[in-house]
Amino acid sequence: GTTLGAAAAEQGRYFGTAVAANKLSDATYVGILNREFNMVTPENEMKWDATEPSQGQFTYTNADRIVAHAQANGMRVRGHALAWHQQQPGWAQNLSGSALRQAMVNHITQVATHYKGKIYAWDVVNEAFDDGSGGRRDSNLQRTGNDWIEVAFRTARAADPGAKLCYNDYNTDNWNWAKTQGVYNLVKDFKARGVPIDCVGLQSHFNSGSPYPSNYRTTLQNFAALGVDVQITELDIEGSGSAQATTYANVVKDCLAVSRCTGITVWGIRDSDSWRASGTPLLFDGNGNKKAAYTAALDALNAG
Ligand code: G3I
Repeated sequence: GTTLGAAAAEQGRYFGTAVAANKLSDATYVGILNREFNMVTPENEMKWDATEPSQGQFTYTNADRIVAHAQANGMRVRGHALAWHQQQPGWAQNLSGSALRQAMVNHITQVATHYKGKIYAWDVVNEAFDDGSGGRRDSNLQRTGNDWIEVAFRTARAADPGAKLCYNDYNTDNWNWAKTQGVYNLVKDFKARGVPIDCVGLQSHFNSGSPYPSNYRTTLQNFAALGVDVQITELDIEGSGSAQATTYANVVKDCLAVSRCTGITVWGIRDSDSWRASGTPLLFDGNGNKKAAYTAALDALNAG
């Protein structure tokens, strides 16, 4: 394949990117998007604050633009994210207990129903585990009761039975980290009890504090062995030049080595599109030129 998407497709995988609706009028951006990628994740537009700014009032304009663009160009969509402790609208931040739980359930039902049949996979719950301990992260959602995650998954399944339902988190790449074990045990428990879950998203934001680990492939394999797909959902890699390129290639090789690793999404197109204010963590430079990291990722896909 001569593009990331085509090369991934030849391996039975997808290659995606986060997309911001306000960049769909940028010709360079859209040119790369349409040429290279066959999966998109709305970077912010499907989050709770964006889709339900006032309780019970849903606004889908920006997210719909991304979905329409994807459908018109033969790309699939990963939905992100139905329940998360961040980017909640102010009214939800001020709720607690059963009122918050009910609001969460209604939010998931409404958004998943609006996009029913259009989403390949939903990040149903995002970042619910604590960085250090491997236990649950304290949040207003967690304080509604430990069962909030399974309630979220059951609600999403009821609303859109055709979408794959994922648990998505960061710092879950290194098999030896407590947080990775915490998420692993959640998935194992859900599979044992029949709670609907189809996939685990490893965000894989790699930097000096959380570098690409040598046991990454082991982590992917161990999650897949629980009977779920694994997806690399928000990949970016701090650094530049050949070191960065080698790490991108290693991530691609690790995914291709695990049959249930169904695809890779990078968290933005050009370095200038990255959520990281400084740094050059992506595959295209600020002018939209292919970096060494791009070539390494493409070559690794084609070698698979
Ligand atoms: O749209 C407003 C704009 O109107 C306002 O003038 C400006 C002033 O700050 O803010 C703009 O909103 C920002 C938004 O991105 C759009 O650019 C928010 O402040 C900013 O907080 C928000 O950041 C996003 C971040 O999630 C929020 O948590 C990033 O774009 C987005 O890349 C990032 O993505 C997360 C994933 O969802 C979950 N995993 C981690 C990942 C990286 O942090």
